[in-house]
Amino acid sequence: MSITIVSTDLTRLDWDLPDCPVNLREFRFRRLTRADLPAVKELHDALFPVKYSDAFYEELLNEFHINILAFAPVCKMRSGGSATEDAVELVGIATATWEPVTGIGGCRRWHEGYISTLGVAEGYRQIGLGTFLVRSIVRLLIQFKRVRVVHLHVLVRAPQLCLSAGPEATITPLQVSNEPALRMYAKCGFVRTQYLPDHYHFGGRHHDAYLLTRTCTRDEISALSRVGTGATDQAKDAGWSALCVIL
Ligand SMILES: CC(C)(COP(=O)(O)OP(=O)(O)OC[C@H]1O[C@@H](n2cnc3c(N)ncnc32)[C@H](O)[C@@H]1OP(=O)(O)O)[C@@H](O)C(=O)NCCC(=O)NCCS
Repeated sequence: MSITIVSTDLTRLDWDLPDCPVNLREFRFRRLTRADLPAVKELHDALFPVKYSDAFYEELLNEFHINILAFAPVCKMRSGGSATEDAVELVGIATATWEPVTGIGGCRRWHEGYISTLGVAEGYRQIGLGTFLVRSIVRLLIQFKRVRVVHLHVLVRAPQLCLSAGPEATITPLQVSNEPALRMYAKCGFVRTQYLPDHYHFGGRHHDAYLLTRTCTRDEISALSRVGTGATDQAKDAGWSALCVIL
């Protein structure tokens, strides 16, 4: 199945998704731009109990991050009453970074990827969007950075955000199983490699996390990193504009 994401143009969200499951065809996918930051922050505030700093959002734009935004079309009415279809809203996000793994003498051996944040807005869940974002970001990490291993942290039990999530979101004492995220990552090939007591601190207390890890197979790496082989950074960046994610 191949998916092509073709736009870095802020005003257009072109794509070509010939073999995508029908239920995801209405979505648009592209990388993050500065203009998206307010919406990205709002979505993070709604999705995650951890509150990220302005520096975190600023760093998402640098060359050490890969990210995918998912937009859903929303039907907005023109002033005359006719419907327009070009309005979209941000409903999903995946952000990731990487770091080199060095060997003896400091020589670079390979890269390890790290999924920093990933989430889907309520109302768009359980239709495969989260799985699609995980698989796509993993494949981008392989394709552009030839990562061999991808890590991420996930809460063991997720505190419930109050319904009015946003900058004033509060956390209730109730903790619910983080089963949706754990199952989704398991489905995408991640395994629990470490239990990390008190890994997170928010809402006035510590929270445990799992470290999840996915080892990329030799076949995946050789198939997907071929695109980047021998390419300059500029060419790789251009590759982002005509991105081919093979699912
Ligand atoms: C976790 C999250 C990203 C899942 O997104 P999603 O788009 O609903 O996921 P998918 O539709 O691709 O579902 C993938 C799998 O996850 C599991 N899953 C998803 N929602 C579930 C739920 N409510 N209960 C149990 N399992 C669930 C299922 O196993 C599902 O696979 P299946 O449909 O084949 O059974 C979404 O619930 C979310 O954004 N949660 C808040 C943020 C978060 O926890 N992010 C992850 C940690 S960084």
